[in-house]
This record gives sequence, structure tokens and C-alpha cells, in this order.
Amino acid sequence: MVIFRYITLSDSRGLSNLVNSLVKEKANIGTTKHVTEKKQRKILKTFLKTMGEEGITIVADSGVYAGSCTLRRGKKIFSQTADLGVFLLKKYRKMGIGKRLMELAMGEAKRIWNVRIVKLEVFKNNGNAIKTYKRLGFKKYGEIQREALHWGKYKDVVYMHKRL
Ligand SMILES: CC(C)(COP(=O)(O)OP(=O)(O)OC[C@H]1O[C@@H](n2cnc3c(N)ncnc32)[C@H](O)[C@@H]1OP(=O)(O)O)[C@@H](O)C(=O)NCCC(=O)NCCS
Repeated sequence: MVIFRYITLSDSRGLSNLVNSLVKEKANIGTTKHVTEKKQRKILKTFLKTMGEEGITIVADSGVYAGSCTLRRGKKIFSQTADLGVFLLKKYRKMGIGKRLMELAMGEAKRIWNVRIVKLEVFKNNGNAIKTYKRLGFKKYGEIQREALHWGKYKDVVYMHKRL
């Protein structure tokens, strides 16, 4: 069974395990660096200080930290927009968990911040993720070719948005 809940400081080990497992599989994410539990705890502590104001993270908890979705609120005149990121351990993908995480996080952002626009960026070669985003109603609004240098290869980055 999977439970969906807000992130807490006790998730620093689970979250660092998730990041390191994604880095190990060279997943299509924005980092290629391992993180220690200590460093992750520090980052999470800072994030939690403003959670609800600047960021929201919903965790999929199956006894282990299976994955999470984070929304970061835009600042000043962009305060009704948010940037989305979502990641799952390999064994929990393609079961509908990613879709559920995003729906819940966007629902909270609408409820708390009255967010009207959610944005994200994704590597063009990440077909699974793009398919999931499209199913949730995201539309492509741009692309920059060879924008990111990821594990020694230049990757095209696709920009998508959804109006809530
Ligand atoms: C991108 C990501 C978050 C998508 O989450 P996900 O949970 O795998 O996505 P979903 O399960 O919601 O949807 C994916 C597939 O599962 C299928 N699915 C959904 N619910 C299902 C269910 N109850 N039973 C069986 N299959 C199901 C969907 O139909 C879809 O399959 P499709 O190929 O037919 O379209 C996840 O793949 C991931 O973490 N990838 C690695 C990190 C990453 O790339 N993150 C994005 C960076 S931009």
C-alpha cells in the first residue's frame, strides 16, 4: 500500500537514497551528483522552514520513500505560478504513482497559493515522463536544443506548462 503525505525531516535518508539511486541509473534528471544523508538533511531542513510558503513536497510512502513531487512557488509577480519536479524509484514506476503525486501536489498548490500555472522542464529523450505529463494536461511551450550537458552528452530540453 502507498500512502501520500507531506515530507518531514525524518525523510532525509529516504530522499538521499532516492537521489543516489537515480544518479546510479543515470536517470534523466537535473543532477549527476550523489548526495550524503547529512547534506540532504541540511537541504531538507532549509526547505522545511518555508514549506507551505515557497515549496510543497508530497511523498509516496510505501514503507520506503518511493518517490516525491515538489512544487516551488514563483516569486513576486510570478507568485501564482510554480515549477514542478517528480521522481520515483525504478520499481515504483508505471503504476500510476507519479500521476497521483502530481495531482495531489498541484491540488495543494491551487488550494494554498491559488496557483494558476504549473511549469516544468524535461529532457526530450525522456519519453515516459513526457507521456505522463501530456496525460495530465501539460502542453509543450518551448524547446532548447542541446541545452543541458548530462553525463557527457548535450541534451535537448522541452518546456511544458499546465493551467490549473
Ligand atoms: C516520470 C515519472 C515520475 C512518471 O511516473 P510514473 O508513476 O511512472 O507514471 P504513471 O504510472 O503515472 O504513468 C506511467 C504509465 O503507467 C501506466 N499506469 C498508470 N496507472 C496504472 C495502473 N494502475 N496500473 C498499471 N499501469 C498504470 C500508465 O498508463 C502509463 O503507461 P503508458 O506507457 O501506457 O502511458 C517516473 O517514471 C520517474 O520517476 N522517472 C524517473 C525520474 C524522471 O525522469 N523524472 C522526471 C524528470 S523531468
